[in-house]
Amino acid sequence: MKRAFVVGYPIAHSRSPLIHGFWLKELGIQGSYERIAVEPAAFETFVTTLADRGFVGGNVTVPHKEAAFRLASVDDPVARDLEAANTLWFEAGKLKGMNTDVAGFLANLDQEAPGWGDSLRRAVVLGAGGASRAILHGLIQRGAGEILLINRTVERAEALARHFGQKVKALAWDQAEAALEGADLLVNTTSLGMKDQPPLELDLSRLPRSALVTDIVYVPLETPLLAAARRAGLATVDGLGMLLHQAVPGFERWFGARPEVTPQLRALVLADI
Ligand code: ATR
Repeated sequence: MKRAFVVGYPIAHSRSPLIHGFWLKELGIQGSYERIAVEPAAFETFVTTLADRGFVGGNVTVPHKEAAFRLASVDDPVARDLEAANTLWFEAGKLKGMNTDVAGFLANLDQEAPGWGDSLRRAVVLGAGGASRAILHGLIQRGAGEILLINRTVERAEALARHFGQKVKALAWDQAEAALEGADLLVNTTSLGMKDQPPLELDLSRLPRSALVTDIVYVPLETPLLAAARRAGLATVDGLGMLLHQAVPGFERWFGARPEVTPQLRALVLADI
């Protein structure tokens, strides 16, 4: 019986056990996926004793992603750039780490809006935190022509733009609506619109009618931004799929089968949020 885990501190709110438990059952795999709370001071010992306890790998969440990156061997360029790993697994006896947020973001759009990345001339990304950094990797990987990066604290956007080079241009928050002109894609990576946070209020009238709008916030599923986009007749993709798809690479490595993100899985997780 293969054992996998999600480790964090606290860990009670994690929806990963629901996702992996669903796939284990659906695919008829003899395995377990356990929720484990580990205090920061005990994380290194937790990691170094994983193999002895029969774990094949697992997910890592706040506040351990940076420590996981340091303790594992990491080839993944996104995890190396973020200096954070959210997925661990053993390969030839060695503990490996990666970051699956980019894979999750891209797979969600591929499934929900096929062809979205075929001619990505201009993307507008709101926010300049860790999630934004991961998504910029994904958009550049898919050949985005130009990315306009907009953040309340413009210095953070400027620092990220310098890091990524000339494709990424930093703009101040008050330039957001003008930046939408000619954009193929709008992505919100800020916490605006999340339950108990202020809404993201943006006039979308300058977005072309063919543009796609997506939000990484998924509580609520229909954020004020997505609701406004839908009212304007624009295509939208919600953030729940990113959460589900980012779980796929880990499951595949631990249990040896590639699971699918189905409407049944979405409904199961949706009932929990
Ligand atoms: P994550 O790692 O999830 O991306 P983060 O690093 O805390 O989290 O980044 C949060 C993002 O939401 C930032 O871009 C932040 O803007 P600042 O860099 O100016 O802080 C953005 N954000 C949070 N609250 C906001 C608000 N009320 N208005 C505008 N942007 C906000």
